[in-house]
Amino acid sequence: MPTPGRIHVAHALHEVFGEGGRVPDIWDRDLGEDAGLAQAMLGLCLRRWGRLQAWVKPKLKDPDRGVPLGTRVSLAMGLAQLAWLPGVSDHAAVNESVDLCADRELGFVPHKGLVNALLRRAAKDRQGLAAELEALPAALDRSPAADRALQAALVPHGAEAELETLWARLQQPPRPTFRSLRGELPEGLVPDAVLPDCLHLEEGLPFPRPWLEAAEGMVQDRSSQALLAYAWDRPVTRILDACAAPGGKTTALALRHPGAELTALEVHPRRVQRLRQTLAQRGVKAEVVQADAAAWLESTAATFDLILLDAPCSGSGTLQKHPEWPWVDHSDLPRLTGLQRRLLLAAVERLAPGGLLIYAVCSWLPEEGVLHRDWLAEARPELQPAEVWPASMGRSAEADASTTALFQPHPLRWEGEGFQGFAVCRKA
Ligand SMILES: C[S@@+](CC[C@H](N)C(=O)[O-])C[C@H]1O[C@@H](n2cnc3c(N)ncnc32)[C@H](O)[C@@H]1O
Repeated sequence: MPTPGRIHVAHALHEVFGEGGRVPDIWDRDLGEDAGLAQAMLGLCLRRWGRLQAWVKPKLKDPDRGVPLGTRVSLAMGLAQLAWLPGVSDHAAVNESVDLCADRELGFVPHKGLVNALLRRAAKDRQGLAAELEALPAALDRSPAADRALQAALVPHGAEAELETLWARLQQPPRPTFRSLRGELPEGLVPDAVLPDCLHLEEGLPFPRPWLEAAEGMVQDRSSQALLAYAWDRPVTRILDACAAPGGKTTALALRHPGAELTALEVHPRRVQRLRQTLAQRGVKAEVVQADAAAWLESTAATFDLILLDAPCSGSGTLQKHPEWPWVDHSDLPRLTGLQRRLLLAAVERLAPGGLLIYAVCSWLPEEGVLHRDWLAEARPELQPAEVWPASMGRSAEADASTTALFQPHPLRWEGEGFQGFAVCRKA
């Protein structure tokens, strides 16, 4: 019987490669001490999936015949452990993968012997196996969707030729960044050179779990923190966070504009619950409303001095954190871009005179960001671009004193998730 960690990893791989689905955020919640190994195993299988499959193919009797997903999953997991997880014994890597293949739900029982034979042979020279896998072209691990996302990230900066460099960078597991909410900083958190509120954990120091659990700090990506470091000195008394869960940006808005009235919308009931809990724990006062933001905005008469529209999106900019992104089904993109436009139009109608709207998505795809900016400029010419970020956060090559209304950090010169955003304001 494979360990619970391996069973969870196999389920996650079936979800991605069988269903085109995403790995749920809490997939490893019940794993306890097993979680670290399971996370490493899943990350390696997702990030090296193409190469793992390419290594197996020529060793099959009939390489052109399709291989059942259960066999591919068992082999990928076994090979990843043998090649890159030296702490796992040969015995565990081989036998547990064979047991997985023998599982009717997760494996493919007739291929038990094949998995056993291939893994036993590979276990004889683990370093050689790693070298063979690494020597295969890295491009095998990319899907057409991944290529499109990388090109979308690089083209606006004239850096198309650096696709391989960006891909290699995105294959490294991301290092989280933090933001302090109150009290003293735990040992090992140091401020970012560009964004002083953004904190990095020094190499080798323990993850500050107790500090996060006490709601004295939060994890927040560096790009989100840069987006929210907009320069704006007009009075802000009413704020709307239109797509708020899990509440990281709502929290940052409350810190930035203490005393302002804050309304936070979220459509999904479970996420609303989580948002309420998180804000309460952090002592953030906000009216949380469960609603479809488009319908809510279209029906309200309220106006706001500041609207943040951190819209639902494809998440292409998060593929470092979500290595399954290249392989999941993205056929809902047209629905998302339609929703983004409806949300945008409805939101700008609720801007008070002199008010600022910030639109953002954690995606590089132009149809989710910059093309909406161009479309909105035509549809609502009375709005003005608001240059609220330093030019270095946009398309400018250099950091200088100029500013930009387009947030589009360079994917190679800026460390953080891929984001696009723009800011518009209504005349006072
Ligand atoms: C990118 S996330 C927001 C992240 C959040 N701003 C933060 O920084 O913690 C987008 C959120 O919008 C929610 N959402 C999706 N469609 C929505 C809609 N029509 N109205 C309101 N919220 C929506 C999603 O459930 C998701 O929680």
